[in-house]
Amino acid sequence: MTVRTQGGYAAGQLTVHRSPAEIAPVTRALRGAGRKVALVPTMGALHEGHRELIRHARRTPGATVTAVSIFVNPLQFGAGEDLDRYPRPLEADLQVCREEGVELVFLPGVTDMYPDGADTTIVPGRVGDELEGAVRPGHFAGVLTVVAKLFHIVAPEVAFFGEKDYQQLVMIKKMVRDLDFPVSVVGVPTVREPGGLALSSRNAYLAPEERPVAATLQRALAAGAAVSARGPEAVLGAARAVLAEEPELQVQYLELRDPDLGRRPQTGRARLLVAARLGRTRLIDNIAVQL
Ligand code: PAF
Repeated sequence: MTVRTQGGYAAGQLTVHRSPAEIAPVTRALRGAGRKVALVPTMGALHEGHRELIRHARRTPGATVTAVSIFVNPLQFGAGEDLDRYPRPLEADLQVCREEGVELVFLPGVTDMYPDGADTTIVPGRVGDELEGAVRPGHFAGVLTVVAKLFHIVAPEVAFFGEKDYQQLVMIKKMVRDLDFPVSVVGVPTVREPGGLALSSRNAYLAPEERPVAATLQRALAAGAAVSARGPEAVLGAARAVLAEEPELQVQYLELRDPDLGRRPQTGRARLLVAARLGRTRLIDNIAVQL
C-alpha cells in the first residue's frame, strides 16, 4: 500500500523528524492508511533496555510502524540535577534505531517542544509526591507533561515504557486512564547486566569499581522477594540487611507498596522499590513480590 505523507516516510528506512509539525502529519497519514503506530519514548543514550522496548514495539500485532522519540526533557530535571551532563550520543542512538528496524525517529529540540515555555502542565495525582516524587519534587509533572505532548504529537495506538522506572509507568498508565488518552501503555521487564545491575543511561556515570556496589540494589530486592512468604516486615528486613552491607550506598527509600503504589499490602501482589545514591550517581530499582 502506498502511504502519502507530507513529511518523510520510506518503508523499511529510518527517517528523522525534528518538529511536531514534521512528524504529526506522517503518523496520521500512516494511521489513515491502516498502519498502527507504536511509540517508544526515550531520552536517548539508548542501551539494551531500550532495544528491548523497540523489539516489543515491533512485535505489536498488525502492520506496525515503530517510532522512537529522543528528547532530553528539561522539565523533568530539578535544580542541581544532571540535565547538562545527561549523555547525548546522537549518532550512536540513530545507529541503534537503524539496527532495530525503527522507521520514524522524533528528535525535537527544546524550543520545538516548548515554544512558549512550559506554562500549562499536567498535575500528577497523589503518588506523584511520593517515592521518586518526594526526592525529586516536580519530576513527574515534567514526565507526564512531555509524555502527554508526545502522545498528542505522534498519536500512537500503543506506547512502551520500561518497568525499571516503575513509578513512572504506573503514573503514565493512570494519566492515560484519568484523561482518556486513546493509547495502550505497555510495561516491559527490566533488562539487567549479568551481575544484576538494572540497565540505565545513568550507569554511564558509575566508575568501574562502583558497578558491583550498584548491583547491591538488585541483590537487596532479590533477598526481600526470597522471603516474601514470611510477610512484609520480613521482606523489608531482608532487603535492608543487604543494603546495610554497603555503607557507600546512601539509601533514599526502600518501600513495599501494592502494584498501583498505594498502601503496603499484607498479602497478595506487591512491589518492592529502592532508591540510593552512590557517589555522583542516583540509582533506582524495583521487583515484583508475592506476599
Ligand atoms: O523514561 C524516560 O526516558 C523519560 O522519563 C521519558 C518517559 C522518555 C519522558 O521524558
